[in-house]
Amino acid sequence: MYKRLIAKILAGLCATALLALGALALVISHDAPCEPAPPLAQGAAGFAAIMQRCYGEADVLTLETIARPELTENQVLVRVHAASVNPLDKHFLHGTPYLLRLVNGFNAPQSPGAGADFAGVVEAVGTGVTLFEPGDEVFGVANGAFAEYLVRSETGSIALKPANLSFEQAAAMPVAAITALQALRDKAQVQPGQRVLINGASGGVGSYAVQLAKAMGATVIAVNSGRNAELVRELGADQVIDYTQQDFTRGDTRYDAIIDIVGNHSLSALLDVTEPDGVLVMVGTMQMNPWWGPLVGPLQAALRAPFASQRLESILARANADDLAALASYAEAGQLTSAIDQRFTLQQVPDAIRYVERGRTRGKVVVNVLP
Ligand SMILES: NC(=O)c1ccc[n+]([C@@H]2O[C@H](COP(=O)([O-])OP(=O)(O)OC[C@H]3O[C@@H](n4cnc5c(N)ncnc54)[C@H](OP(=O)(O)O)[C@@H]3O)[C@@H](O)[C@H]2O)c1
Repeated sequence: MYKRLIAKILAGLCATALLALGALALVISHDAPCEPAPPLAQGAAGFAAIMQRCYGEADVLTLETIARPELTENQVLVRVHAASVNPLDKHFLHGTPYLLRLVNGFNAPQSPGAGADFAGVVEAVGTGVTLFEPGDEVFGVANGAFAEYLVRSETGSIALKPANLSFEQAAAMPVAAITALQALRDKAQVQPGQRVLINGASGGVGSYAVQLAKAMGATVIAVNSGRNAELVRELGADQVIDYTQQDFTRGDTRYDAIIDIVGNHSLSALLDVTEPDGVLVMVGTMQMNPWWGPLVGPLQAALRAPFASQRLESILARANADDLAALASYAEAGQLTSAIDQRFTLQQVPDAIRYVERGRTRGKVVVNVLP
């Protein structure tokens, strides 16, 4: 009697939990229509910025005139000269994976600015700022980088631009090069003389990973299509494998570290060619599922790790001022530069994002904000 009652209660609880999950899934994945831009107050100073007032395809991005923000005590105002495009921008544009919306806004983005990577000149500083002064050339990561101006806390992801890089070369760097740096230095812990294979060597992250691995003293094996062989050799690759001709997971050669930026091979295949005491770092994925796409790799790695002799690492790169300064040092030592594929204007940001969405970028795509 009691058993049947308890079973009924448990079934009821399960059904309620499932309904609640279904309702949450519907709420999270709902795209609200685009709201019109709020009018600029009369007499207010404005500037041009690419804004995203709803989730969707690149055509939801609009060029608007928005109000110039007041600086607080610890903020700097940057006149943006150039910005760059990352696959990350696509995730914010679509609001996927949907879990991203828990922090970015349920039906539409809470913060409508678009773009992350920037380089420019400090135009004004708050009264308490000590690290920067007007006229400083800077680069970094900020929400709303596709704009004529942006505001950043002086202790945020902002650093002095390497003097030997142009604004567009510096703007190309932050997200992709920080990802490469953290994958090689923190996750793979690359040592001089190691054999490091970079799968996806000709894209944004890969083009920096080739140069940084080389600067760390590794022998670099780049995997990319034949059309990009020349580019990665120029960036420092010792050996190039054309993935259209050869599958590197089928050979006898083993690598001390594999930096997988593409995610087009199974974990088992990758581990087969990783030295028994080597490391596999999972950076990117081809999984496009809007619910769990980028989460599959790290989950698989966590489940497999206890049964593998190799280290399995996944990465969620975090932008910070120290790593920007480290990139600047590599650049100033002549060990790091940016390979620029295409240039777009601020008005053309939707086209720039469509271009990157094709997944065939050679190096980086930049947006020149100053004419
Ligand atoms: N985990 C993190 O914190 C983090 C941070 C940044 C980026 N990511 C992820 O990393 C991935 C790459 O980012 P990205 O900025 O480098 O993208 P990207 O610039 O768009 O990468 C494009 C490059 O990928 C190459 N590629 C495509 N298919 C390939 C294959 N089968 N084998 C080898 N190369 C191939 C293309 O070369 P071909 O045209 O020659 O094929 C192209 O040069 C994305 O999934 C991104 O979301 C993750």
